[in-house]
Amino acid sequence: MSMLDMYLRWYEYSIEMLKKEVINIKRYTDIKKVVVLGMGGSGIVGDVLSALSIDNQMVSVNVVKDFYIPENIIDEKTFVLSISYSGNTLETINATRIALTKTDKVGVVASGGELLKIAKDNSLPYITVVGGLAPRAAFPMMLTASLKLLSSCGIQLLEEGDIVKALNILNNIDEAQRDSDKLFEFLKNSKIPTIVATTRYQALAIRTKNELNENAKMLARVEIAPELFHNDIVGWEGTQIKDKTLIINSDIDYENELLEFYENYLKENGVETYRLQLRGSLLERYLYGSLVVGLTSIKLANIRGIDPLQTKSIAMYKDMLK
Ligand code: PA5
Repeated sequence: MSMLDMYLRWYEYSIEMLKKEVINIKRYTDIKKVVVLGMGGSGIVGDVLSALSIDNQMVSVNVVKDFYIPENIIDEKTFVLSISYSGNTLETINATRIALTKTDKVGVVASGGELLKIAKDNSLPYITVVGGLAPRAAFPMMLTASLKLLSSCGIQLLEEGDIVKALNILNNIDEAQRDSDKLFEFLKNSKIPTIVATTRYQALAIRTKNELNENAKMLARVEIAPELFHNDIVGWEGTQIKDKTLIINSDIDYENELLEFYENYLKENGVETYRLQLRGSLLERYLYGSLVVGLTSIKLANIRGIDPLQTKSIAMYKDMLK
């Protein structure tokens, strides 16, 4: 299946995911913190879960992208969610094994591999995602699977009805193609674009960077407001580089005012900008925004004569670890 086909099937796959069973369900009533373990296209699911928990008063989400986990991060009210599309990512496997020495409240999302074996051997709650895709192309399936596993275990980050409603936005393929055509036109001559968002949309900015890196084989920078006003903004005073900046709109008015202030500043400095206007709930914005930037990254790969699917350097790194 081509990379494009994988993205075009996001809606279909995610709906299938909703019907999938969580195995070894355990019900918890006192979880206050979720620690998500995962790297790359799987780890970004943790970043998005963390963003989705911003307005949740019961549970917070921390993300660990490493071989190890911070010593005091797990207490008796912590649930650890380990996500690896392949199930064979060493950082995630190692961090999961360490987590299991501290708690048995661990759940797994994977398509197979060693991580799935760990889940089965330890009777952990787990849910499998469809195999044979590029991990980053399985993003909404892993996100849906994670939300489903968490809610099955009594950890409600979002209401199920809100998740089902939000997934419908992935069915707007024609609109997403049009939006990605515009973004593609903006980015096609860019060498190292900057992606700007507020903290609420940081995970979408990182996702965008990662998609440009992995699919289009481009470099990209991420800057987050309001932090960027305390450093990055000064960098423009002394640089001759005027590469393009993509700005991801927020659903919060005052955040959009901050972004507008920055956009005007960039324009005065001769930098071309583009606003990615999203709509709907936080989850809808994350899903639709990810679809648009994913399609854009494939179009950028195509125009450069690059295969979006192959990630030779990641494979080289994983071989080195063996
Ligand atoms: O999207 C990709 O291909 C990568 O970023 C992978 O997600 C990353 O290497 C981790 O692998 P996995 O998702 O299988 O754990």
